Amino acid sequence: MIAPSAHPAPQAAPTQQSLPTVRFATPADDRFIEELQALAFGPGRFARTAFRIRERFPIDKSLSLIGEIDGRPVASVWMTPISVGGMDGYLLGPLTTDPAYRGRGAGKLLVKEVCARALARGEGSFVLLVGDEPYYAPLGFAPTTPGAIQFPGPVDPKRVLLHSADRTLALRLSGAIAAFGARKRV
Ligand SMILES: CC(C)(COP(=O)(O)OP(=O)(O)OC[C@H]1O[C@@H](n2cnc3c(N)ncnc32)[C@H](O)[C@@H]1OP(=O)(O)O)[C@@H](O)C(=O)NCCC(=O)NCCS
Repeated sequence: MIAPSAHPAPQAAPTQQSLPTVRFATPADDRFIEELQALAFGPGRFARTAFRIRERFPIDKSLSLIGEIDGRPVASVWMTPISVGGMDGYLLGPLTTDPAYRGRGAGKLLVKEVCARALARGEGSFVLLVGDEPYYAPLGFAPTTPGAIQFPGPVDPKRVLLHSADRTLALRLSGAIAAFGARKRV
């Protein structure tokens, strides 16, 4: 179990499993998130392609969400504003849940919430991620055209998934990952 940085322990053990809730992350969550990601992805995480994107393009801290169970932080998700082929959107990840709290819905709740909040802004048209289709398909993610979206490093094309109100976009979107708003600045 990950020790939360500045959050109180629950007062009493719940008699039945409580549902997860969501809140915005604050700077007090930074250590918890760092420890969670280190546990999930290990020291090799900085070499992963998705981490490389986040080095080039900063995450949107106003879309950094924490999943809680019984008032304890147990899961985290980040969003990175990006563009692909001149269209603005977001890269979701990492999504991580404390192993002691997996299978209780925190991960899926965070995906649903962060996608809804990001797309409701009306500034980005899609959410892209690299992940397992069986997990993300029920959350509205569809496979993209293999090789159409170019990442700054190796990715398994079958794991490049996209969520958009436009159901045709997953197969149409193509181009290299660039900064959010890149086309407007040209
Ligand atoms: C993937 C992860 C975030 C899921 O978190 P979670 O809070 O347990 O997710 P939920 O409780 O919402 O969903 C759990 C369900 O998804 C299933 N599931 C978990 N990972 C899965 C995967 N890779 N593929 C398919 N199904 C998966 C579980 O078996 C479980 O199924 P059930 O509801 O039928 O029992 C968590 O396992 C984790 O942190 N993994 C390590 C980091 C990672 O791989 N992140 C995703 C890529 S960025």
